[in-house]
Amino acid sequence: MATTKTTRSNRDTFNTRFVFLMAAIGSAVGLGNIWRFPYVAYENGGGAFLVPYIVALLTAGIPLLWFDLAVGHRFRGSTPLAFRRVSPSLESIGWFKAGVNFFIAIYYAAIIAWAAIYTVKSINQAWGDSPADYFMGDFLQADTDATYSANFVWPILLVMVGVWVIAIVTLATDINKGIGKLTSLFLPVLTVMFIILVVRALFLDGAVDGLNALFTPDWSVLSNPSVWIAAYGQIFFSLSIGFGIMITYASYLKPRTNLTNTGLVTAFANSSFEVLAGIGVFATLGYMAAQQGVAVDEVASGGIGLAFIAFPTIINLMPLGGLFGVLFFGSLFLAGLTSLISILEVVISAVADKFDLPRKKAAIMAGSVMAVVSCLLFSTTSGLVTLDIMDKFTNNIGIVFGAVCAVIAVGWVTGRRREMAQHINAVSGLRVGTVWTFLTFVATPALLIYFLVSEIITLIGEPYEGYSQAQIGLYGWAAVAIILVASFVFASLKFRGNQHLDGLATSDYGVPVRGRPAGEPNPLGQGATQR
Ligand code: ALA
Repeated sequence: MATTKTTRSNRDTFNTRFVFLMAAIGSAVGLGNIWRFPYVAYENGGGAFLVPYIVALLTAGIPLLWFDLAVGHRFRGSTPLAFRRVSPSLESIGWFKAGVNFFIAIYYAAIIAWAAIYTVKSINQAWGDSPADYFMGDFLQADTDATYSANFVWPILLVMVGVWVIAIVTLATDINKGIGKLTSLFLPVLTVMFIILVVRALFLDGAVDGLNALFTPDWSVLSNPSVWIAAYGQIFFSLSIGFGIMITYASYLKPRTNLTNTGLVTAFANSSFEVLAGIGVFATLGYMAAQQGVAVDEVASGGIGLAFIAFPTIINLMPLGGLFGVLFFGSLFLAGLTSLISILEVVISAVADKFDLPRKKAAIMAGSVMAVVSCLLFSTTSGLVTLDIMDKFTNNIGIVFGAVCAVIAVGWVTGRRREMAQHINAVSGLRVGTVWTFLTFVATPALLIYFLVSEIITLIGEPYEGYSQAQIGLYGWAAVAIILVASFVFASLKFRGNQHLDGLATSDYGVPVRGRPAGEPNPLGQGATQR
């Protein structure tokens, strides 16, 4: 049997913890922070939402982030390899996560392409006087009735191809030169651009009204379960937990890495960005309301409507609006791209490990397949509806189901609760104990199962957004079914190479793997701890 050393030497590592942090924060800070958080917070009690938000962050977000980091770090593999190392019969859980990321990546790339196009359109406000009509009509040429239309929207197709080329080239390159360089450059640029945008927004007329609308607490919402569900959902999506992203990225960490500290920095940076986005977006909406002489609640929106309809409307009203537009859409583009890279890495790393391919080959092969499917589905006139449905199902069912399976597999099926805590403690400064074990392996999965069941009941009960059965069946339920079937099919294929036979980090970090004798010397020294 090969030793763990073989795995080490074969697996890339991030050169420094800083590079890892840039990649992890770049993944976390995405569309979820910019267009999701402000509106979710506003809709769910404003300032009072910060209570469930912080509770969700502390009780589920950070514990599960530590769990994901620990799984990737301990089992040193892409999601299928890591779960195979947890137990050979569990490889399909890893493929399920890879499948969910496949579907998220293909629509995420389209939104990034829209943001890139709107960055340029901002300069002369090419959307004219009616941004809503322009977005749906001239820009997307949206056909909301067709289940699939093969009418390509050429400008979108061209830019999507560009986004895919950037992503594939980045991922085909060594992780430090590719993911590392891209995120180390783009994340600081994004932060500076976004801070300028927020400061500018704060000086707009009506900004204070916007902030009052966002932050005035409605404490009565705290007794409403749906507000708590919204808070947990926001934390999961925003921190990229349960995707398998953090498992994959952590597999590239050096053995001596303080996991709890790394997780805390990532979570804190992500939440700071989120609150900053809330301030920037609502200050801007306050300005729009003041200009139109209406209340903020009449202009508040989130998601695609906020970015591609409300913001262009505001940019039209504003002095030097073009510059503001470049900052906003440029931020959306950069935040989206660094998240897309991480989502794709889950799939590419899975393919590379399973078929024993060099990173370059895996990135080109898997990336090209995804690029083709992505362009076929999302650069045509039926793309908007497809995107909306796929987003709903992959996030609310795919990610949540994948997270539940992972926690149950590691914690209960293979009974590694103690082992995972010991692993974290062997390498981290801040130690975890029974509270973490309870939150990660009992409270969070119970909560996630509740979310999942209620979401499935809702989705079965009423057609999402009133779309047709064919649309929902194909892009929602069938997509989830394809992921499920594919995860078993891929898990049944022969694992090439010998990585999966490696010594499973038997005694690495001084913590024996459950069910295996501690045979090898601990490379960190007994109980070594990096603080
Ligand atoms: N965490 C990423 C986001 O917020 C997926 O968009």
